[in-house]
Amino acid sequence: MAENQNSKDLYMIIKEKYQRKSVAGQLQSVFGKEIYHYSCLESTNKVAYLLAKKGAEEGTVVVADEQTHGEGRGDHYWYSPQGGLWFSLILRPRMISSEASRLSILGATGIAMSIDRLFSSLKVGIRWPNDVVIKDKKVAGVLIKVRAERCDVNFAIMGIGVNLNVREFPSPLSFIATSLIRETGDSTSKERFLESTLEELENLYCSSQVNGRILLEKARLFSSLLGRQVEVVTTGGKFQGLAQDLDEDGGLILRLESGLHKKILPEKGYVKERSPKI
Ligand code: BTN
Repeated sequence: MAENQNSKDLYMIIKEKYQRKSVAGQLQSVFGKEIYHYSCLESTNKVAYLLAKKGAEEGTVVVADEQTHGEGRGDHYWYSPQGGLWFSLILRPRMISSEASRLSILGATGIAMSIDRLFSSLKVGIRWPNDVVIKDKKVAGVLIKVRAERCDVNFAIMGIGVNLNVREFPSPLSFIATSLIRETGDSTSKERFLESTLEELENLYCSSQVNGRILLEKARLFSSLLGRQVEVVTTGGKFQGLAQDLDEDGGLILRLESGLHKKILPEKGYVKERSPKI
């Protein structure tokens, strides 16, 4: 778990930029003020969790060039070779644990906005709740871990994986995953992408603490599901229906074939596969 001093210098650029901005623009930029960079970790989420338990500040970032045991949703393994951007962000939101669901949507929306900003020719979407997709193939994902004391969130770890400069995926991932280098043909600077994503995330995070509807409106704009027939796999079984809307908790509102509406929270389900546009 040795720190990679050479590459750390690159991330210093981001830190310094943030610090300058805070002083000059009176902005309260905190995401990325502290960045721990490693060449290889089991999982950035694990290290971020330990740092947060020891009191690391909100906005602290742990980034690794490679992960040996990257964690995905639902105990899935996350393929994390060199070339990708694998990082975890420590958050200390003032919210009760039942509200933490919306952090998944916030993460996915921030990544989608960053891709949209840097690659305007790409059509990026969010496949509820946490997949960022291009042409229905997953380019990035978000994993939230929350530590709560009684009902209040003590801290949350937002783990983000972006297939930035990953050229090849092993089967069966090759059928469902893509990367920015595959879509654009060009490699992207990790530092530049991290900086842009942290900015989008921080803006969304701050604005959504004041007004939850701002996040919702952005998430709706990028949703690749709304208006489609989908199949959602939940802890309570599978449901088919029309993806009608998202709500402020990050829940998906499904109109079932019976005409009834069902709300599914992000941590309770995922959309199974690509569904035809209707
Ligand atoms: C998903 O299944 O879509 C969530 C994937 C989250 C992967 C990221 S990579 C950085 C961070 N560290 C981990 O071990 N997982 C998350």
